[in-house]
Amino acid sequence: MIGRLAARILNTLSGRFLLLTVAFVMLAEVLIFVPSIARFRLDYLQARLEKAQIASLALEAGGVVGADLERELLANAGVFNVVLRRDEVRQLALSSPIPEPVAATYDLRMAGPFDLIRDALDVLWTPKDPVIRVIGQPVQQAGLLIEVTLRQGPLRGEMLDYGLRILLLSALISVITAAMLFFAVRRLMVVPIRRVVRHMQAYAAAPEDARLVITPNARVRELRDAEQALGQMQTELIAAFRQKERLAQLGGAVAKIAHDLRNILTSAQLFADRIEQSADPGVARAAPKLLNSITRAVNLCESTLAFGKAEEHPPRLTRFALRPLLEEVAEAEGLSRETDPACLIDAPAGMMIRADAEQLHRVLSNLVRNARQAIEATGQPGTIELSGGEGEQDWWIRVGDTGPGLPPKAREHLFMAFQGSARKGGSGLGLAIAAELVRGHGGRLDLVRSDAEGTEFMLHLPRSGGIDAGEDSPAGADHPA
Ligand SMILES: Nc1ncnc2c1ncn2[C@@H]1O[C@H](COP(=O)(O)OP(=O)(O)O)[C@@H](O)[C@H]1O
Ligand SMILES: [Mg+2]
Repeated sequence: MIGRLAARILNTLSGRFLLLTVAFVMLAEVLIFVPSIARFRLDYLQARLEKAQIASLALEAGGVVGADLERELLANAGVFNVVLRRDEVRQLALSSPIPEPVAATYDLRMAGPFDLIRDALDVLWTPKDPVIRVIGQPVQQAGLLIEVTLRQGPLRGEMLDYGLRILLLSALISVITAAMLFFAVRRLMVVPIRRVVRHMQAYAAAPEDARLVITPNARVRELRDAEQALGQMQTELIAAFRQKERLAQLGGAVAKIAHDLRNILTSAQLFADRIEQSADPGVARAAPKLLNSITRAVNLCESTLAFGKAEEHPPRLTRFALRPLLEEVAEAEGLSRETDPACLIDAPAGMMIRADAEQLHRVLSNLVRNARQAIEATGQPGTIELSGGEGEQDWWIRVGDTGPGLPPKAREHLFMAFQGSARKGGSGLGLAIAAELVRGHGGRLDLVRSDAEGTEFMLHLPRSGGIDAGEDSPAGADHPA
């Protein structure tokens, strides 16, 4: 229960900061602790030396000291004995019995900082109470050297006390710092971030509600930037949504109009048929043109309706030979080697591909028809070339012609529905639908070249990929294209 609560707190931004602050402050305290405990020991020993020096002053004053006074002086200084060397000859000493041999000697005059640290840590590690000798420099140039012998136990006790105080203090500091940081992070970061997240969630739930657009109010710059970016995105999305909705409504209306218009035009077609048999030669002559125009209008309605249908069904992949399909497309467009424009087919016999044969037929028919229309519009002879092959990754099909090239309008709106047509009676849907169908196969349709010498479209179909890549569906037995 407590563990889970702790985990929940630690998995928040402010919780992480809390933990890290405690850890870092403790680390900093350790770095401070080690030198200061060494300093503490040095000060302690130096104080002992000073006291011993003061005790030895009694000797200097009076010369001879009684045994009682000597013991008292030494007990006062907290040492067993003192040696104070004035110069090469003069040397003073107070002494009392040393209970055990001296275990170690420390000369403070030549100890570097690392020696001091090592010796201090040694004291902390050694729980015993050995007798040690300490040598130092007497204060106020009062001599060459002073040396005392003392027990290490009391020093260790004081060092432990001191260490504990530092530890408690640093724990207190780190807890206070961490707590302050915890609240600062909450105020400065967590609260604003939560606000952004809440706005995102509310917006996701009702993306068209303009009231939910965030008003930036964070004071931290990065967070303010985030709020601003979110606000801008929301504003743009709301506009896009409105636009999309309007377009969808418009699309619906267009589909209805196209539907009714087609019905009206179909009846008109029937009447136009009859006008053809009119006795009036003028009327009879105009009839085919009328019929043609009506047929074009019907076609436009039909392709609009086809495009408006929610979606094409996903491609039903089957394996079939490419070449017969290319021949079929040419034939359906009334093209062959001998016609004008001529249609040349170049694909390895027996090369199999995997695609939706019906959709691919439509794609290629659109491309071939465009090419034929473009060539016919020039009034010159021309050629359409349909070729196919396979690469390592994909199958490719190329549709090239010797026509006049795409007009600028078509080029600018390439593959965009309703916008690219530069042809009388054209809908601008052919290329858009073709590209969409190819994309549905995971492939792509590209305009490779288009200039005064002709136009070339290239279609790539991936050989693998998709979820059921590699395995033919049972219904997908080889399909005669
Ligand atoms: N092979 C081509 N050569 C020249 N122009 C082309 C060719 N293919 C397409 N176009 C141009 O691109 C336009 C758009 O074609 P498409 O999307 O099929 O619509 P539509 O045929 O209904 O006009 C055509 O109107 C035509 O001007
Ligand atoms: Mg077309």
